[in-house]
Order: sequence, then structure tokens, then C-alpha cells
Amino acid sequence: MAAIMRQSVLGRLLWQKPVSAIMIKDARYCSAAIMASVRSKINEKRKEALLGGGQKRIDTQHKKGRLTARERIHLLLDPNTFVEYDMFAEHSCSDFGMEDKKIPGDGVVTGYGTISGRLTYVFSQDFTVFGGSLSSAHARKICKVMDQAMLVGAPVIGLNDSGGARIQEGVESLAGYADIFQRNVMASGVVPQISLIMGPCAGGAVYSPALTDFTFMVKNTSYLFITGPDVVKSETNEDVTQEQLGGAKTHTSVSGVAHCAFDNDVHALLQLRKFMDFLPLSNKDASPIRVCEDPWDRMVPGLDTLVPHASNKPYDMKEVILAIVDDRDFFEIMPNYAKNIIIGFARLNGRTVGIVANQPKVASGCLDINASVKGARFVRFCDSFNIPVITFVDVPGFLPGTHQEYGGIIRHGAKLLYAFAEATVPKMTVITRKAYGGAYDVMSSKHLRGDTNYAWPTAEVAVMGAKGAVKIIFRGQQAEEAEHEYVEKFANPFPAAVRGFVDDIIEPRTTRMRLCRDLDLLASKDLKNPWKKHGNIPL
Ligand code: HXC
Repeated sequence: MAAIMRQSVLGRLLWQKPVSAIMIKDARYCSAAIMASVRSKINEKRKEALLGGGQKRIDTQHKKGRLTARERIHLLLDPNTFVEYDMFAEHSCSDFGMEDKKIPGDGVVTGYGTISGRLTYVFSQDFTVFGGSLSSAHARKICKVMDQAMLVGAPVIGLNDSGGARIQEGVESLAGYADIFQRNVMASGVVPQISLIMGPCAGGAVYSPALTDFTFMVKNTSYLFITGPDVVKSETNEDVTQEQLGGAKTHTSVSGVAHCAFDNDVHALLQLRKFMDFLPLSNKDASPIRVCEDPWDRMVPGLDTLVPHASNKPYDMKEVILAIVDDRDFFEIMPNYAKNIIIGFARLNGRTVGIVANQPKVASGCLDINASVKGARFVRFCDSFNIPVITFVDVPGFLPGTHQEYGGIIRHGAKLLYAFAEATVPKMTVITRKAYGGAYDVMSSKHLRGDTNYAWPTAEVAVMGAKGAVKIIFRGQQAEEAEHEYVEKFANPFPAAVRGFVDDIIEPRTTRMRLCRDLDLLASKDLKNPWKKHGNIPL
């Protein structure tokens, strides 16, 4: 026993010297004093962290119409639910005088909280601290919340406001980005990842938002580009402003890089909350079901007369969507890009659904390159996260012409085909009017494992429109009669219905009721694709 006592530290002390009551009292006093000093240091550091880059920089941020990183988190999450991690993290750079410039938190606020009572992880870059630039400590903080989100199965929301790589840290910063990219890819299809760009996002930094599922932007105060206007000028001699190059308008209407743009920080954060309510927490979770006051079997008589008799007359497919979904509540994604296809989230009898619809009002609803890519990525998101897809079809085909062919409409159109064919979630399709050619097959047809496929009485399922078809079959001949015969034969829903390619021809007014019933029925659908490492979608 004595030997054992001598071996341990405490034992050695006790063995060597008897401990007097006075010594114990001194030690207690001492540790209380140390604790008080530690506490005061903790408070001081917390205060420093809360102040970020200081009041002056906070004021500048506000003057630019932007909130601070913390203000944004408070608006995004439910009140008093934010739990912060790594408030004391600091960079370890000692170059360029950085050893004297340390701000606890190092330019990003990270942690978790809830949105409508549901867990979400969040990081919010603090532009007031070194311009929100990414150091290796900053990157480690982001990686930590991403790792935790993956472990527990919860979304990650990134609020981006950053001057990019922390220049003083060189390759350390680049490594930090790569660590984030790797996690973005691993998390893809496992937990929803959303980026909200609320300030600058330049250089390679743009690739993290690009890897996430949805990228939202704030109008006039955010921009994304791989090189800024100065480099563009020196390399290409183009004069372009930041806004023109990578502002919200550019990315939501021209490039398709961003999915939605909002008026200001507050609007963006409130819309993001609304958006998150549609999504499941992970690929193993179901979307939340909202209590629905809108009767599931509500008839919509207005739909009976919505589609014009003349098949070349446009109508607004958004009217169809709004009339059918719960409470006319439709969260449209990419409303200003490739407007010939409509995508977005809605609910049917309280359940989240993804909507994909041709828009006859724009380019007659033709599928082109941009529409195909827009639709494909959305269908894949829905399929990854168990969100049923409802498809409304009025499509005269793929857009012809050299512009489209040279741009690769074949490979891009194949993306949409691939996405629908691969999807195993419940798929319900309504052909409102034209379903011509390859586009008929692509738009969630029965042949691509559509679960329920309906046609309205106005549906025309054919290889192509009557005029084009007759021109080919009766080249150079008087073909008026043949055209009439073609219309009789094909420009109606029967050829598809008699073959079981549509399950029923339904009155438009009953569409909501039919879809709600099917959705309920298909809730237990269990379909699996054959095992593979991954498919090879035509990128
Ligand atoms: C370190 C930075 C910084 C950076 C800004 N700051 N960007 N510090 N590294 N990348 C600091 C500034 O020194 C300044 O510090 C504060 O942040 C605010 O910056 P300002 O320039 O005063 O603000 P503003 O006028 O609003 O201009 C914002 C800006 C500009 C447009 C973002 O700062 C800028 O051009 N920054 C560099 C952008 C860039 O080229 N980043 C690298 C991209 S390449 P003080 O102390 O004065 O407040 C990249 C590679 C990633 O990111 C690759 C990943 C694979």
C-alpha cells in the first residue's frame, strides 16, 4: 500500500509532508482567485467576440444596408434557440503582424438552433472581422458544424459574407476551403444545404455555395464571381460592374447560379425560414406535415375552362398550380430563369411536394437547355430528400435550332430524362394539353415509372403537332384532309388512355382531389434502384 501511495502524485505529496489545515485553506483561496480571473477573462473574451470587428465596422455594415452576422442568426432562428460553438476560436497566423490581431470567433459565428422548432446548423460569416475572410480556424469552425449536422441528420445553412481566402494565411486558407468543399460533397443528398449570399463571395469561395442545394441572394448587396471586375478588365478588357458581373439579378436571371433573390437581409432571412418549413431534416426524415385547412377534396371548377381550345394559345400554368395546391401557397424556385419551366415547393393536404411544370406562356413551354438543367437538378433534390414530384405537362417538344444543338441540348435534355427516370419518390403527372415527342417521355411519363398519370380532356399525346407531322408524312402534297385526320386520331387523350399510358382522363376540376388521394396512397411507396456506386448522369 505504501509503495502504491508513493507512486501517485497525490500520494507522493501526502507521503512527503503532512498537509496542514492552513495549507488547504490557502489553496482554496488561491483557486477561487484563479477562477475569478478566468471568469473575468471569459466574460471579456465573450464581449470581444460579440463585438466582432468593433462598433465602427458594425456601423459601416449597417450603412451598407447589411445586418451583422449575429443579427442575421437571430432573425433566422427561433428566439433564444441559438447555441454557439467556438466563440473563443482564434487564428494562429503570425505573418504580416497578424499575431497582434486576434478577434475571438475569427470572423464566423457557428452553432445550431431551431426554425419552426426543427433543428438546423448554421454558420454566419462576420464581415466586420477581417472582411469575413476564411482562415484555417474559421474553416475548422464551419467544418465542425457540418460534421455535427451530418452526424445527427440536420440541415446546414450558410450565411455568406466574406472577402474570400484570408490573404495573410496563404495556402492554409485554401486548404480550409477544400475541407469545406469535401464536406459539401459528402453532405450532398444526406442533409439539405442552403447558402444565402449576403455580401461578397469571390474567388474559389463561390464553389461551396455552388455545391449546396440552393443558393439564395440579397438584391443589390451581394455578389458572387470567380474573379472581380478588375481582373476581368485586365484579362479581357471588359468593363463591368460588380453588380453586372455577379449581382443577384445576373445570377437569378442569366447564369442560373442562384435560385432566388430577396429585397434585403430581413426579407431574405424570413423567406429562408418559410422555405425550410417545406424540407425534411435529412434524407432519412420525412418532410413536416402541416395541418391543412384547405379541403383535400376541394373542386376547382375554374380549371375546366382554363386551357384554351386553340392549341397554340397560351395560358398561365402558374394559375393551374396555385389553384390546386394548399392555400395557393407556392414557393417558386428560379422564377426568373428559364421561365419556360416552373419549379418549386407547395403542399397538398399538408404534405410537401415538388412541382415541375411546363409554362405554355413562355416559348410555348418548349424544353431547352436551361429549362432541362433547371428541372433536372430540382427533381434530383426532391428525390434525394423523399419529396414527391407532381408534374404538369404542356410541352410541344424540345426547342429546335442550331443554338440549342450546338449548346448540347441532347446532353442537357438527357439530364432531365435521367433525373425523372432515376427518381423513386412518388411521381404524379397531369397532362393538361400537349405532350409531344421526346418531351412526352421525359416529363415523368408512365414509361419512366410515373405512379399516376392523368390527362385532361384537352390533352394531346402525339409524336408532334399536326402541321409538322402531316408535312413529313405527305411531303409536297395537299394535306388539309390528312391534317384533319391526324388531329382526330392523335390530338386527344385517347391514344394514350387506351394503352394505359395515362391512368385516367380526368375533369380538371377534380385534379386536386385526385392528387391528394394519390399522395396519401403513395406515402408507403417503396421502390429501389439497383445497387451501384453511383450513376453517370450526363453532366
Ligand atoms: C484578409 C481581408 C480580405 C481577405 C477583405 N479583408 N478581404 N482580409 N483577406 N481576403 C479585410 C480588409 O483588409 C479590411 O480590413 C476589411 O476586410 C474590409 O475590407 P474592405 O476592402 O475595406 O471592404 P470593402 O470596401 O467593402 O470591399 C470588400 C471586398 C474587398 C470587395 C471583399 O475587401 C476585396 O476585394 N477583398 C479581397 C477579395 C479577394 O480577392 N479575395 C481573395 C479571392 S481568391 P480592415 O482592417 O481595414 O477593416 C480566393 C481563393 C479561394 O478566395 C480559393 C478557394 C479554393
